[in-house]
Amino acid sequence: MKKIVLAYSGGLDTSCCIQWLKDRGFDVVCFSANLGSEFSPADLKKRAIQSGSSKIYIKDLREEFAKDYILKWLKAGALYEGKYVLSTSLGRPLIAKYLVDVAKKEKAQFVAHGCTGKGNDQVRFDATCAILAPNVKTIAPLREWELTSREEEIEYAKKHNIPIKATKEKLYSIDKNIWGVSVEGGVLEDLSNEPPQNSYYFVKPLNKTANKEAYVEIDFDKGVPIKLNGKTLNLVSLIEKLNRIGASAGVGRSDCIEDRVVGIKSREIYEAPAAWILYTAHKELEAVTLDKETLAFKEIIAQKYSQIVYQGLWFTSLRQSFDAFIDSTQKYVTGRIVLKLYKGNIVVAKRISKNSLYKKAFATYGEGDKFDRTMAEGFIKILAMPYQR
Ligand code: ARG
Repeated sequence: MKKIVLAYSGGLDTSCCIQWLKDRGFDVVCFSANLGSEFSPADLKKRAIQSGSSKIYIKDLREEFAKDYILKWLKAGALYEGKYVLSTSLGRPLIAKYLVDVAKKEKAQFVAHGCTGKGNDQVRFDATCAILAPNVKTIAPLREWELTSREEEIEYAKKHNIPIKATKEKLYSIDKNIWGVSVEGGVLEDLSNEPPQNSYYFVKPLNKTANKEAYVEIDFDKGVPIKLNGKTLNLVSLIEKLNRIGASAGVGRSDCIEDRVVGIKSREIYEAPAAWILYTAHKELEAVTLDKETLAFKEIIAQKYSQIVYQGLWFTSLRQSFDAFIDSTQKYVTGRIVLKLYKGNIVVAKRISKNSLYKKAFATYGEGDKFDRTMAEGFIKILAMPYQR
């Protein structure tokens, strides 16, 4: 019997995928990864088996996600189109990597996922699998099957005794991990609609946030956040804690019109308080500790980095080479940043670093000025010289 390993979330789509693949003669093995969504291994196992799979692998990947994916993104500062912290995009190559690992272990020639034929996630899954395991074929039932609506999927599930959670209408399509929540579809598809209150997943709407500023103090060691408010925390806990603090201050939502890989413009709301707080703090520390040219060059790389990660080209030598450069810049990025959060804003309050390139004696307009202003005239003459005709 042909064997296939399916990336299984426990939702309606992937539950129907099991039956659909079985109908096409596959022995279906499931793989579920915990990247920080609501996650119950016992429930997943029950549902996968009830839906017809022969076996399920379940893995908590939060630590690996934080250390090998999120941290690299943070050091790179790779915002996509200036507004997206790539939370969903970063998770996919990790899940796909384990998917092909399980396929190898199970001696399966096929893997499958529940992504639609219009989105970016299919690209990330398919491309990662193709790069890491060229001999394994990826099947995406949603690109092929005849079910065209949620209602039809529910009918299909009922017909085949597939357990479904809630039959009531889903307002949005949501993807969640520790780095952020992506919310799309429903009323958000009309760009003239302001995101309604029910599109707030865990960030507080501004009119419900405290009237008091919340301070956060973050210590970095070579670009790695290691302490929050004076307390040493592992990266996963630090992110989870910052998500809670940021969410209650209304911080970290972005409403984006983004350009998908497949050419479609789409609208997505992201909630990523920890990501935005860490991004801001890290950038502030870099501004103090890195020289002008390194900062400028890093900007260029950040943009390209974001594009390749968004496109699912994580496992490429270009991304690895970028990381090598970025890592070498981070040796100076040690110090403390204090931010205050208030009604959706992240404001820098203090910057402290032993590697600071800021020299008060040069910058000051007050006493103790050490800058030799007589040098300025000659410097400016030479600066302008190449442009004189
Ligand atoms: N647009 C985002 C990306 O491509 C998120 C995709 C998944 N979104 C969702 N709501 N299910 O990275």
